[in-house]
Amino acid sequence: MSDPRPIGVFDSGVGGLTVLSEIRDRLPFEHTIYFGDTARVPYGVRDLSEVRWFTFEIVRYLIGQNVKLVVIACNTATAAALKAVQRSFDVPIVGVIEPGARAAVVDTIGRRVGVLATEGTVASGAYGRAVKSLDAGIQVYEQACPEFVPLIEQGIVDGPELEAVALRYLAPMMERRVDAVILGCTHYPLISSVINRILGPEVRLISSAGQTALEVRSILSRRSYLRRPQHPDDTGLATYVCSASPDEFAALGSRFMEEEIQAVSPAVVV
Ligand code: DGL
Repeated sequence: MSDPRPIGVFDSGVGGLTVLSEIRDRLPFEHTIYFGDTARVPYGVRDLSEVRWFTFEIVRYLIGQNVKLVVIACNTATAAALKAVQRSFDVPIVGVIEPGARAAVVDTIGRRVGVLATEGTVASGAYGRAVKSLDAGIQVYEQACPEFVPLIEQGIVDGPELEAVALRYLAPMMERRVDAVILGCTHYPLISSVINRILGPEVRLISSAGQTALEVRSILSRRSYLRRPQHPDDTGLATYVCSASPDEFAALGSRFMEEEIQAVSPAVVV
């Protein structure tokens, strides 16, 4: 059996492309449709109830596109709405928090985990709950990093300005001697080399993207939802949709995907 329906992936903007990229690497024959809510980015500074509302609108839109599974490739939206949308819609919906938390529980030796995330995600306490639901004895230190997303969106992914900001956010983590740090925001994998340099090689950096892609593969496989290719070159199509300027999405998004994004369509979800 082969299921040709696309996988729906969404984020507040282009950051979730780091998750899409891992999904496309691991599931190259799947069609994907990515929605970036660029008209309303950033989500990380908004009230969680507003982000929950947006998440319902976008999940509804993606289901209207006949997706077989939805990935909420945004930590803030996952924190705000994952459980609520899972209870409300009849398609599997995957978030990015639990996969990252599971990897951290495996990786920490000293049982001290750091979380770097947006203000919204930190305020929700979702990472702390996810880690502690797997091992209540692990200490979790969460740090909101509001200056990272604007810098990364400007293309500043290294250099003294970013380092100074990163040092400020990371100093409390180092004092607490964490040995595993979750990059709890879709944008942060782009600055992992700076974070790594400051924290040192003994601290494991965890990005949810790869773990989330593995979870998607496992759900599709268990439900017999995988698309079988007709021939080895029959790779899946990637469709991109956003709620603001398609050109800006394509320019910024190409950096996140590390490949050229060609056609992007505008969409209205409200
Ligand atoms: N995608 C968001 C997240 O992972 C970061 C960008 C934003 O604040 O919208 O939390």
